[in-house]
Amino acid sequence: MLKGKDLLSIHDLSQDEFTEILETAARLKMELKAGIPYPILKGKTLAMIFEKSSTRTRVSFQTGIFQLGGQGIFLSTRDIHLGHGEPVKDTARVLARYVDGIMIRTFAQSEVEEFAKYADVPVINALTDLLHPCQVLTDLLTMQEYKGKDLKGLHFAYIGDGNNMANSYLYGCAKAGIHCTIACPEGYEPDAQVLANAKEDAKATGAELKIVRDPAEAAKDADVLATDTWTSMGEEAEREVREKVFQGYQINKDLLSVADKKAIVLHCLPAYRGKEITEDVLESYANVIFDEAENRLHTQKAIMALTMCD
Ligand code: CP
Ligand code: NVA
Repeated sequence: MLKGKDLLSIHDLSQDEFTEILETAARLKMELKAGIPYPILKGKTLAMIFEKSSTRTRVSFQTGIFQLGGQGIFLSTRDIHLGHGEPVKDTARVLARYVDGIMIRTFAQSEVEEFAKYADVPVINALTDLLHPCQVLTDLLTMQEYKGKDLKGLHFAYIGDGNNMANSYLYGCAKAGIHCTIACPEGYEPDAQVLANAKEDAKATGAELKIVRDPAEAAKDADVLATDTWTSMGEEAEREVREKVFQGYQINKDLLSVADKKAIVLHCLPAYRGKEITEDVLESYANVIFDEAENRLHTQKAIMALTMCD
């Protein structure tokens, strides 16, 4: 279904494609643990373009393509001409002559879209200022592992900045039928167009999507809670202001006391202890959070296997 396609946003996926990614990821995880090789991308190359820092994305994509029989080439924009004036449309057309897939982490979503327009190989969004689809698909796989395969009707609470994670959670929850409440300060809401699109998608699954101000209102009876840094990559100049605005938008013991007793906590990492999450909460949910980090590998292997296969 996804063969030859790009993965730029969860919103673009059909319901079947969405399910296929999660099912393939779960299968590849099981097969890896059982020692069953799956070299479906033997001889293929993934170009990995990074305009921002990364620990998880870089290592999980490079390891993932290797486990599928192929190779990844790490390209920092500090080193390639893209970072020094060569246009996106030229870079995309050149790389597509050499490689079988392109993964990009950058600032503008429009840059990833331009790559996809000019490269006739699959392009995977590995984080933009607007979206982080690989991470949220991973988080949905993690939710399935802890809460059961059918996520419909689950209550999800996101506490903090209406950033790329919040936007992608809206898309992911809408597709999965998860009720999603985002608690954020005024002026830091998720993208209005993303919210409108997600509400359209939610009509098919019955997911309710809400934006509120009070973290406790979002957390009340929630099955899954998540947060992310108050200051995303590229916003460092706003850090001081943000640290004031986001006071109280923290997952801590008090907030968890109003959530469901069996609630789990997710964090895409890197985490800033004492800011968006407390040390004790992060450490008491470390099993879930590091499963989530591991699941980047399995989910991205599924995305590469499905989009880049012959
Ligand atoms: N969560 C995530 O995308 O981590 P990295 O920035 O380390 O890739
Ligand atoms: N919102 C964060 C996510 C990091 C994985 C950022 O964009 O920096």
